[in-house]
Amino acid sequence: MRIVLRVAAVCLFSIFSYACKQLNDEKLFGIEAECDTTNVSYKLQILPILQNNCLTCHNEKNNINIGAGINLEGHENARFYALNNSLLGSIQHKSGYSPMPKNMPKLNTCSINQIKSWIIQGAPNN
Ligand code: HEC
Repeated sequence: MRIVLRVAAVCLFSIFSYACKQLNDEKLFGIEAECDTTNVSYKLQILPILQNNCLTCHNEKNNINIGAGINLEGHENARFYALNNSLLGSIQHKSGYSPMPKNMPKLNTCSINQIKSWIIQGAPNN
């Protein structure tokens, strides 16, 4: 009898933890689906995206060697490529632009939309 109870307990526990995991995944997905594209800030959103995905190649020092001479470090430099359309064209993998980040998966939709929104605002240093 004891062993039956124990097996039943283990089964119940597994079912509950599986159900909880499903719930958590849904929640996480829900959070990820929310993307704030209003009042996008260069310092709070854009700079971290560039730092995490672009500046290893497009920085002040290395851009000549591995970044094809394109420097995205600092607001003024990022703004230049934002306003000449190549920044958005490259991250959206539009034809006529080299797909970026180079040899890596496309940025997530939220990041792309935030960059787009920042450019529409005029790529401010905010
Ligand atoms: C591994 C190095 C590397 C990374 C990371 C990288 N780039 Fe590039 N990028 C390059 C190279 C090299 C070129 C020159 C074109 C080519 O070789 O594809 C380039 C070209 C560009 C261009 C010019 C595109 C055009 O067609 O005019 C822009 C804009 C650009 N990158 C932006 C970015 C952005 C934004 C990111 C991050 C999301 C990024 N790059 C990540 C290496 C990189």
